Amino acid sequence: MPKVTFTDTGDQADAEEGGSLKDLTKNQGWPIAYGCEDGVCGTCIVEVKEGKENLNEMEEVEDQTLDMMGMKDGNHRLCCQCKVKGDVSIKGM
Ligand code: FES
Repeated sequence: MPKVTFTDTGDQADAEEGGSLKDLTKNQGWPIAYGCEDGVCGTCIVEVKEGKENLNEMEEVEDQTLDMMGMKDGNHRLCCQCKVKGDVSIKGM
């Protein structure tokens, strides 16, 4: 079962294989803010510290939003667009 670590607090949680990162962070009560939940507003941005290869490929909407924010550096993702496929560590922004 994939493990997600929230580096701000050191909390860890088990994720469903292919499960939504948004749902997991909400269920855990981790302080990541959400707005549109559609990959458009950029509110839910996090830095992926480890395991970026263990998240789903970016869809066009997320790619465009990160580009507009100047955060398309390969280390940032929008939680509302992420599915967990393996262990990842994320840091709030
Ligand atoms: S909540 Fe708007 S991009 Fe994720």
